[in-house]
Amino acid sequence: MSTTYTLDTATSRANPTPAPMKRLTVPAIMGHKADGVTKEPLVMLTAYTARMAQLLDTHCDMLLVGDSLGQVIYGLPSTIPVTIEMMAAHGAAVVRGSYHSLVIVDMPFGSYEGSPEQAFASASRLMKESGCAAVKLEGGEAMAETIGFLSRRGIPVMAHIGLTPQAVNALGGYGARGRSAAEEAKILADARAVADAGAFALVVEGVLEHIADAVTAAVPIPTIGIGASAKCDGQVLVTEDMLGMFERVPRFVKRYADMAGLIGDTAQAYAAEVRSRSFPTVEQMYQRKA
Ligand code: KIV
Repeated sequence: MSTTYTLDTATSRANPTPAPMKRLTVPAIMGHKADGVTKEPLVMLTAYTARMAQLLDTHCDMLLVGDSLGQVIYGLPSTIPVTIEMMAAHGAAVVRGSYHSLVIVDMPFGSYEGSPEQAFASASRLMKESGCAAVKLEGGEAMAETIGFLSRRGIPVMAHIGLTPQAVNALGGYGARGRSAAEEAKILADARAVADAGAFALVVEGVLEHIADAVTAAVPIPTIGIGASAKCDGQVLVTEDMLGMFERVPRFVKRYADMAGLIGDTAQAYAAEVRSRSFPTVEQMYQRKA
């Protein structure tokens, strides 16, 4: 089976031939965890572009348009400067490039913390402009009221607790959370609060393994781990991290490929052929018709 869709190059490189496939829904994702048990873990990866979405779609249950795009795509120092316009544009690209996975778009810093009403305006805008089916926001107990407000108004919310990168200035860095008894208790309370408020799933990032296990056992909704535990109900990684696009490899990342090396080698080969005039060859050039 092909791992990607056939491109109809007669029209546009950007438009894959539609695959006859039904997109996964929020209830289908929630249904993976029945009576507290998940048989097959959920697969989530980040995607920011249509082409990456096309390549990942059939292998995933969920595609997350993460605000990590600030660092990965835009070279920003953190996720703090990411705007709602960036998230909507990349969300729309990922929706256009996928047919199967549930697409979730991150709410950027500053677009939802002010009030439930502000969150509703931002989330509904993201859904209208991107076509995504759900949004993700960071925070536990403090965001429970907002999660309830959105969920009751038709906006499915994925919560995100533990290490929450948008709070880097308050946390003082990106270190694992839950090393003190108070932090451990807070993470568990956050998990219960967002689940009770109506979140449909929960990203658990950068927490000690036994805390991730306790969270997974404590809530009825699927937990999606990153730097957490293999016992979570699913896993997520930043795609460019697992593809080996960056030299720096955080502890929780497994590099499944060396795309940075491949791209460097390929660019070097191209540059050498251009400089030696061995590219283009007759095969890549147009001639007069006889
Ligand atoms: O922004 C992101 O990519 C994320 C994942 C790492 C969970 O929030």
